[in-house]
Amino acid sequence: MHPAFRLGSPRAMHVHTHRTGRTYYLRTFGCQMNEHDSERISGLMQGLGYEPADTPDRGDVLLYNTCSIREKADTRLIGHLGHARRLKADDPRRLVVVAGCLAQSRQAAFFREHPYVDVLVGPQSLHLLPALLDERVSTGRQVGAFDESTSMWSAELPRVRQSGPLAWIQIMTGCSNYCSYCIVPYVRGPEASRPRNEVVEETRELARQGVREVTLLGQNVNAYGLEPASRAGGGGFPALLEALSGVAGIERIRFMTSHPKDVSPALIETMAGLRQVCEHLHLPVQSGSDRILHLMKRGYDRAAYLDLVNRLRAAIPGLALTTDLIIGFPSETERDFEETVGLVETVGFDGAFTFQYSPRSRTAAAELPGRIDPEVLEVRMRRLVETTQRLGADRNALLVDAEVEVLVEGRSRRDPDALMGRTRTHKVVNFSAVGIVLPGDLVEVRIERASSTSLSGTAPAPSTPVRESAPVPEWVPASEPGAQ
Ligand code: 5AD
Ligand code: SF4
Repeated sequence: MHPAFRLGSPRAMHVHTHRTGRTYYLRTFGCQMNEHDSERISGLMQGLGYEPADTPDRGDVLLYNTCSIREKADTRLIGHLGHARRLKADDPRRLVVVAGCLAQSRQAAFFREHPYVDVLVGPQSLHLLPALLDERVSTGRQVGAFDESTSMWSAELPRVRQSGPLAWIQIMTGCSNYCSYCIVPYVRGPEASRPRNEVVEETRELARQGVREVTLLGQNVNAYGLEPASRAGGGGFPALLEALSGVAGIERIRFMTSHPKDVSPALIETMAGLRQVCEHLHLPVQSGSDRILHLMKRGYDRAAYLDLVNRLRAAIPGLALTTDLIIGFPSETERDFEETVGLVETVGFDGAFTFQYSPRSRTAAAELPGRIDPEVLEVRMRRLVETTQRLGADRNALLVDAEVEVLVEGRSRRDPDALMGRTRTHKVVNFSAVGIVLPGDLVEVRIERASSTSLSGTAPAPSTPVRESAPVPEWVPASEPGAQ
């Protein structure tokens, strides 16, 4: 056990609280953007004097930050809300708040179906949460706020972050792509970019607090600064990466998600040229069939995606590629599916998230004919998961015997005597180390074993971590086989 580790204790930042003895319980569903919004919700609640509670029965206010991207997310939420309703029946002074994308997409209908819910607040309206809670208490009526686009950046709100070397930074909100299956543009509004200098300022502040790695968040970060009348400042996403790599103390920069149609030659060049930008790209392809890609309105075809992958790999040695795949899109034939499997094999992704198509209200695809039989879906899903896991394991096996740079995050979940961190390529490494190693240290780990989802190894003694106070040595590219 490493006594130096004290992880997971939430630390309030920029939050001036007056203790009230009241508590809030917050449960988050969905993507990193939601996780990040939850940091802001915590900031607001602590600003009101509430303290965090670990379990719903200990919370005076129960908040659920929801996701609506697939139906599964809805059904999971319903179970949690059932519990909230019973707790509220025990103590009617409890308040139940449903925030996020599902609140935004269902609005009044949600109140009708869940009369015990007190407040609904959409992702563009989070800053109104304190006022909504007040209004609920003073009027006794259910209250909601559903702004269509951001009037205030959630980034301008106080935040409570898990202390540690990693942080998220929101650089955009919304999405203007309207892929035919996707609800995001309807619930998170149109793309809007944060001014570059604000992002740089937030990054500087995080670096001062000991953050070493930032992940820039947006539904389509490659479109940063490209929306009409953008406030980002010129130069788009490459200029932002350039500016952030000048922030002292930030060792690694990641971003997600990238839309393949918006990965420009300038971005590839910038990624290749900046030491801090990690060799990992999450590049959702969704399907390998041109017919389906067209129906999805993705704006690229199979050949363009493969060409992009080739250009990326030629420019960025050791690049890891991960992706999202949807199976069972309306009218998907066996042949379409085989084309997806074929593309996945051709690229050899490091990892992939596979999703069964889920019709979402208001989206164009929900109106398309050709629903796929659930049994067929099961078979396709199993085959695709098997394929992506095998390919991921093959990619990871290439790292056995290599020494890779790992940014230490904390204790390994599997083995309390081991540490956990990630490679620049975003692969989880569980490792043992000799000497004192702290979260935020960069260590070289010799990889001994690989599975489809993680690596394990040893940091040779004595480890020579890079500390905040030490001069930062020149970066040496991780020696991944096949990478040079
Ligand atoms: N059904 C299934 N998967 C979806 N995704 C988005 N919308 C849907 C939907 N209606 C997947 C896409 C996207 C990821 C975040 O979720 O693969 O990249
Ligand atoms: Fe949804 Fe497409 Fe926007 Fe991604 S790019 S959030 S899939 S509409």
